[in-house]
Amino acid sequence: PIIYVVTPTYERPHQRAELTRLSQTLLLVPALHWILVEDSLKRSPLVADLLAQSGLHYTHLNVQTPPPMKLKEGEPNWLKPRGVEQRNEALRWLRVNQSPMDRGVVYFADDDNTYSVNIFKEMRHTQKVSVWPVGLVGGLRYEGPLVDKGRVVGFHTAWKTHRPFPIDMAGFAVSLTLLLMHPEARFDPNAERGFLESSLLGQLVSVEDLEPRADNCTKIWVWHTRTEKPKLKQEEALEKLGRGSDPNVLV
Ligand code: UGA
Ligand code: MN
Repeated sequence: PIIYVVTPTYERPHQRAELTRLSQTLLLVPALHWILVEDSLKRSPLVADLLAQSGLHYTHLNVQTPPPMKLKEGEPNWLKPRGVEQRNEALRWLRVNQSPMDRGVVYFADDDNTYSVNIFKEMRHTQKVSVWPVGLVGGLRYEGPLVDKGRVVGFHTAWKTHRPFPIDMAGFAVSLTLLLMHPEARFDPNAERGFLESSLLGQLVSVEDLEPRADNCTKIWVWHTRTEKPKLKQEEALEKLGRGSDPNVLV
């Protein structure tokens, strides 16, 4: 099966750094197709060039988050969900371009997390939905499924524990066949905070169906890392003096 990695991304000073790191991790994974979806009105040359030079199989899409749903500068980032329209656009693309005969697995990989190659090995043979723990999320060292006799029987979580699937976006993969069998299944842009993952998974499976991976969910092979916002105070100061960094240098 091919692994389809779906990544929403948006323009910011460190976008190229994030995408370089992720793309070079993905290069280590065989039979992988990267679906990179920009949160923008147009596909940007920066992202197009990065993809063209990446050495990966890829599809470059774009869809803008409707302005009322978009996070404003300075708003706390938990106020609105991120990457929702972009992931749904990738689902739409997969349904148009893939047939139920194509064997595949879909993984939603945000551009700022840290991924071990091991997690891709674990997800490749997903029947319906496979799951594993995610490090550094939910206010814990890790959040993850609790497994008994090879079945998921609960979740180790401390945040909104009533979530039907208390699993971070990075903690599951879905079979392409299952997604094609449920043509309406998608992420709900109006889902309550923390319920985004549940909004999709609830349309596809029950907890009993989940396939625990990563040694019965005892190994951390993906981390919900977040990048510090770069400080560009001096850049702004120099720009005012007409001596800003060379705009022809791509950062
Ligand atoms: C957490 C989860 O790990 C995300 O999967 C989930 O989408 C998010 O919460 C949420 O509640 O919506 P977090 O680290 O807070 O993640 O989110 P970001 O990494 O800032 O954004 C998730 C993805 O959306 C990233 O790939 C990012 O590049 C993209 N994004 C972010 C956009 O496409 N547009 C934006 O305006 C912001
Ligand atoms: Mn993130």
